[in-house]
Amino acid sequence: MTEKKYVLAIDQGTTSSRAILFNHSGEIVSVGQKEFTQIFPNPGWVEHDPVEIWESVRSVVADALQKAETNRHEIAAVGITNQRETTIVWDRNTGKPVYNALVWQDVRTGDIVREIADGDPLGTERYRQITGENVSTYPSATKIKWILDNVEGARERAEAGDLLFGTPDTWVLWNLTGGINGGVHATDVTNASRTLLMDVRTLTWREDICADFGIPTSMLPEIKSSSEIYGYGRKNGLLVDTPISGILGDQQAATFGQACFEKGMAKNTYGTGCFTLMNTGTEPVFSSNGLLTTVLYKLGDEAPVYALEGSIAVAGSLVQWLRDNLGMIATSSQIGELAASVEDNGGVYFVPAFSGLFAPYWRDEARGAIVGLTRYVTKGHIARAVEESTAFQSAEVLDAMNADAGVPLKELKVDGGMTHDDLLMQFQADISGCDVVRPSVVETTALGAAYAAGLAVGFWASTDDVIANWQEGKRWTPSMDASERDRTYRLWKKAVTRTFDWVD
Ligand code: G3P
Repeated sequence: MTEKKYVLAIDQGTTSSRAILFNHSGEIVSVGQKEFTQIFPNPGWVEHDPVEIWESVRSVVADALQKAETNRHEIAAVGITNQRETTIVWDRNTGKPVYNALVWQDVRTGDIVREIADGDPLGTERYRQITGENVSTYPSATKIKWILDNVEGARERAEAGDLLFGTPDTWVLWNLTGGINGGVHATDVTNASRTLLMDVRTLTWREDICADFGIPTSMLPEIKSSSEIYGYGRKNGLLVDTPISGILGDQQAATFGQACFEKGMAKNTYGTGCFTLMNTGTEPVFSSNGLLTTVLYKLGDEAPVYALEGSIAVAGSLVQWLRDNLGMIATSSQIGELAASVEDNGGVYFVPAFSGLFAPYWRDEARGAIVGLTRYVTKGHIARAVEESTAFQSAEVLDAMNADAGVPLKELKVDGGMTHDDLLMQFQADISGCDVVRPSVVETTALGAAYAAGLAVGFWASTDDVIANWQEGKRWTPSMDASERDRTYRLWKKAVTRTFDWVD
């Protein structure tokens, strides 16, 4: 039998799909990556084509295998990680989606949120105490309802048992394992905890909440752990007979890849959005400061581990917006250079409430604003304000976490593309007042999914292997004068209030 040398991670993200092969030391062997189309049909609407998503996954898997000159015989297992909440509904008989995917950033369901909130005599707090999530446009529930309410015939087909729902992990798993020919319809606890439909304590679907949203439970995938064999690659595929044995939502995967296995350890991932997760151990902790309660991971039959999460909708996507919508930079990496061309932000604050405001505010009706403009301001200052907005938003989430935890975080582990930007990382350390630490492998999202998959098949023995493979790459320590920090942070918070109540 051929020696199993690698684990393959499929990372189905918001802007691209990637496939990364890892060796036993957790090092990257090869990468396949493909961007796909972002569809913005109306203000606040964000869609993806699920068929394009699946095709991009197939092509990046082929690419990663080819670059490493390997094939499925050398692959011990496949892990899947994904953009969470994004909602796909498809026909189990034809495999065809009934509508485009409604992406997590999409805010078209604001009316449904208000309808549920007003109609619920106990208030939306009831949902948070059960699911760990706020009733907002962010989780999948309102998006499924929107599709059933707005796509002709969808509700009848769903009630007849013909339609399936899934977040992208489920869509990829179903297609990888056979699609209409016996594809496995399952998800893991971390992704299920992003739907507003799962009881975060029992890890089962709540029929009463599904009924509140008019969602037939027959559409829902089976909830499994994050590390077990769900199925095998289908016949005629690239990964035929290869175990698919790990699923983690991308933010949970990054936390896993960062080896945050102890209570109180936290990471921040700088991707399309920015997401800070803190391990809170085997009991769910409910925030008093605007954070979500989410499942961090569950390994096979072991007890689940929970996290508090501070979700920020817009971080890297603001840089993309500057590039694609304003043409202010030609490539995303130019943002750092442009921001460094000026001494400071010139008084400008940019609050990117493109999808309303997520943590810690949770205001669906907020919209973005640039404040502090004068004739003095150049594009360098705007670029600086763009960079700083990510750090300010993260600092507010960390404040909420520190308030919930009662002890300030000493060190924040970071990962994601933007962590290569020194100016941003130094500013993050300055504003948050804690050390910021980047590991030597920054692809922690894919790595976490690979570990979950590899642990299920014995490629890695235990999480001790994950800890042993984690290496510090770079550290930033706070150096900003305290009065300057307080002044600029205060102005940021003032700028945030200017975005409130914008939608009529
Ligand atoms: O909850 C949304 C999140 O999963 C998306 O992550 O990496 O695309 O910013 P990312």
